[in-house]
Amino acid sequence: MELKEVLRFADEKVFAKTGKHLEDLQEAILKETLQGRKYAAKVAKDRDCSEGYVRVAASELWKILSDVFDEEVSKVNVRAILERAKFYNSPSAIGRDHVTNNVNICQERARSPTEPQNPQQTPKQLHIDLGDAPEIFTFFDRTSQLSTLENWITQEHTRLIALLGISGIGKTTLSLSLIDRIKTQFDYVIYRSLRFSPTLDATLTNLLQIFSQQSEIPQNIETKISQILDYLRKNRCLIVLDDVQMLLGSGQLAGQYKTGYEDYQLFFKLIAEVCHQSCLILNSWEKPREIARLSKEYHPVRCFVLGSLGVAAKEILNSQKLSDEETWETLIDIYQGNPLWLEFTATLIQELFGGRVSEFLQCEMPILDEGLQSQLSQPFGRLTPADLAVMVHLANQPEPVAVSQIFNKIPFSPSEIVNAVRSIANRFLLEAIEEEKITLFSLNPVLRQYVKSRYLSQGM
Ligand SMILES: Nc1ncnc2c1ncn2[C@@H]1O[C@H](COP(=O)(O)OP(=O)(O)OP(=O)(O)O)[C@@H](O)[C@H]1O
Ligand SMILES: [Mg+2]
Repeated sequence: MELKEVLRFADEKVFAKTGKHLEDLQEAILKETLQGRKYAAKVAKDRDCSEGYVRVAASELWKILSDVFDEEVSKVNVRAILERAKFYNSPSAIGRDHVTNNVNICQERARSPTEPQNPQQTPKQLHIDLGDAPEIFTFFDRTSQLSTLENWITQEHTRLIALLGISGIGKTTLSLSLIDRIKTQFDYVIYRSLRFSPTLDATLTNLLQIFSQQSEIPQNIETKISQILDYLRKNRCLIVLDDVQMLLGSGQLAGQYKTGYEDYQLFFKLIAEVCHQSCLILNSWEKPREIARLSKEYHPVRCFVLGSLGVAAKEILNSQKLSDEETWETLIDIYQGNPLWLEFTATLIQELFGGRVSEFLQCEMPILDEGLQSQLSQPFGRLTPADLAVMVHLANQPEPVAVSQIFNKIPFSPSEIVNAVRSIANRFLLEAIEEEKITLFSLNPVLRQYVKSRYLSQGM
């Protein structure tokens, strides 16, 4: 959106509410902030006044804008709030949804989020319910991941995001940090873990209790879904459903729902396809089946696969007071920058090697701590015989291999092998690299070691 347009829109809104236009100084502060610059020094220099004076004027401006837009505005969120308000305010804001190849008119989008539709249902303040979310004591880096997710949610109005990645990589931690970062832009912020596999009916009831507070919850599941969608339309809600893999079955291809949980699929599909102004984030170490299909171009659905924490993982080693810093990157590489794997390993190094990483690295790598092994037993417990045969075959290969190179090497048909490879990849247990127009697959050192010790020693 053009800077001039956003400035004009802000001025019009301020004038409509207060009867006064933005002053030059306020406009200059807004202009710099909207361009992502630090405004104080530049504006103070241009206007020959002190930075302190500019900051006081800025704080006054955020108050005025908060009043105008009925939510807390600051230098951090002003651009997102103005752009969103302008978008909803625009009479041409008609969403073209590629749902059934029809043009789906999003009438709710044409309405300003600040314009009450039903005063009883439009909350004036942030309702935040994080349920049993773990408290986050330390959070390192993930700056670019947070920016991408924030952009998808606040700028691109993505309705459904699957935050995926192997267990321990940091999905829960990242989503809670994201909540903390963008919560002021919502009316409702909700976090729920599905670790005890609640039915869809139980999850919907739980959500409705948060939304409707005292009012009666309907019995019928369709009515519950339609009421939830109504709340998502009328309010800006950010809902994180964590541990979605607990709805998915084992002993079958990845991403399939357990018996009795299939209706979640329809619910997630509706969240993606029906017009509303909210976002649902699904955290899972297995990609749910419908997500791949829904996350096509033009659909407001995205997948985000979380990877290594990278060098920021040094902070984890530092907090565990390990020594030999020059070897830490090697350790991080071996354990794939997985924060949980590194936490287990760092505790082991502390307990058995006095915190000396170089001494630990002299062991044949990688050493798998007992906690790490038990963590891995969960996704491996879900694999089919064909998946396991592929994993064992890959664990024995010194170099990455193409799918066709697995054919005839294990007693499964090419179709079974192709499906198994895809399924293992959807559980994030496989590395894929593109090399000269061919995709090659391998296991990372930790998984290779796990497969060798657990399955090869049993003669598989
Ligand atoms: N960015 C980070 N900074 C510091 N610690 C982190 C970070 N990300 C994850 N951790 C730590 O790593 C561990 C695993 O993180 P988390 O529980 O978020 O992973 P997860 O992907 O949700 O795992 P699961 O799929 O098993 O639920 C936690 O102890 C957490 O504190
Ligand atoms: Mg988690």
